[in-house]
Amino acid sequence: MTATSMEQLTSLCKRRGFVYQSGEIYGGVQGIYDYGPLGVELKNNIKSAWWRAMVYQRDDVEGIDGSILTHRKVLHYSGHEETFIDPLVDCRKCKKRMRADYVENDECPHCGSKDLTEPRPFNMMFKTSVGPVQDQDSFAYLRPETAQHIFTNFKNVVDSTARTIPFGIAQIGKAFRNEITPRNFIFRVRELEQMELEFFVKPGTDEEWHKQWIETRLDWWEKQGVSRDRITLYDVPKNELAHYSKSTIDLMYEFPHGVEELEGIANRTDFDLGSHTKSQVDLNIQACVQPNPDTTSRLALQDLTAKSWFVPYVIEPAAGVDRAVLAVMNEAFEIEQLENGFERTVLRLPAHLAPIKVAVIPLKKNHPEIVEFTKRLVGELKALALGRVMFENTGNIGKSYRKHDEAGTPLCITVDFETLADGTVTLRNRDTMRQVRIQSQELADYVLDYVKD
Ligand code: GAP
Repeated sequence: MTATSMEQLTSLCKRRGFVYQSGEIYGGVQGIYDYGPLGVELKNNIKSAWWRAMVYQRDDVEGIDGSILTHRKVLHYSGHEETFIDPLVDCRKCKKRMRADYVENDECPHCGSKDLTEPRPFNMMFKTSVGPVQDQDSFAYLRPETAQHIFTNFKNVVDSTARTIPFGIAQIGKAFRNEITPRNFIFRVRELEQMELEFFVKPGTDEEWHKQWIETRLDWWEKQGVSRDRITLYDVPKNELAHYSKSTIDLMYEFPHGVEELEGIANRTDFDLGSHTKSQVDLNIQACVQPNPDTTSRLALQDLTAKSWFVPYVIEPAAGVDRAVLAVMNEAFEIEQLENGFERTVLRLPAHLAPIKVAVIPLKKNHPEIVEFTKRLVGELKALALGRVMFENTGNIGKSYRKHDEAGTPLCITVDFETLADGTVTLRNRDTMRQVRIQSQELADYVLDYVKD
């Protein structure tokens, strides 16, 4: 069951410390959010799951971490200076500014006035200057996508890793877009985070790889608890494609506010490497044609080698971390009606994404032996490096369970008088609310197995 409204999610996010409005004490900044104690864990866990799947579990992907400040020429030759533009309209009556495509029937969606300006182009890249002097030479952009540093470092990575096609370069990091109308909580923000892979392939094999990546990405989302049933594939029509794309399939998800893009998977062809190559740098690659020198004549060998230089095509699965947080929480959120007539809010996150893996609760908060046993157990669980393990000394078991249901903590452990007598603890499962007694020495194996993805 998914969240019925964005309000339920935003209120849970604020209440439990997932997401806060940035600069809230001064009224906030539209389209900019801070992640709180639980939010940062969830976000990190999503990013780790992506990195594990894209880099560690494959043999054909390297990672990089490029800079946010970006040389102007990079975004000039990438086409962003010219094309990363949204047409903008102003309402002369209510003074609101909006994207032209939000206007229907030439009417302001805020006040209904028809007194609107003509659409004007607006470049969404944030500009800044590097160094103490502000002039043309110090001018730089905050990157609008992480991808460009992958392209500009393509040759560096090939040279330092001796990779041959097909192979990919992955990156996770912040990107900035001066969105005209940021909205729907963390769905459309001005400071966002992306998880992008540029997978370089031989021209001619690109369409097959594109199909493969769509399937790979759908599988990954399913493992993060985002049901395939709620994702539809949108084949972006030619007139809506980004300037670099030959074909893009968007994974469209049923967010609480409507069906919108969760991830885009584009066939960027040789557009970017080609553009940077034309600028000044030779980013071609030698294909992995490996003729056997013992069986191939010298002339044929030269011919094959000469023919094997090309600019690779690239398939790009590009997902937003903030949208991933929203989708994963939306899938996990449930207000469950209990048999006793009460209801509980529960976040059924996959255990590997849960911000807190285990909460350990002493039955009596002032009982020295129970508290000491609990602390020792917390120390042992922390040593497993599972993620956050919480010592929850509220003295109210029921309240602690409710709190951790909302936080998405998959397991709670209670230490009580019986523990002191026989070493057993109560293990409570978030999803079933079932409680079993288990020997505390068996906890490590159980918990490790439970939280792995
Ligand atoms: N490098 C390709 C690229 O940036 P995109 O479709 O513009 O393509 C990729 O962005 C993903 O980044 C989107 O699918 C979305 O998840 C996320 N994204 C883009 N703009 C966003 C915004 N303003 N707020 C939150 N996420 C955004």
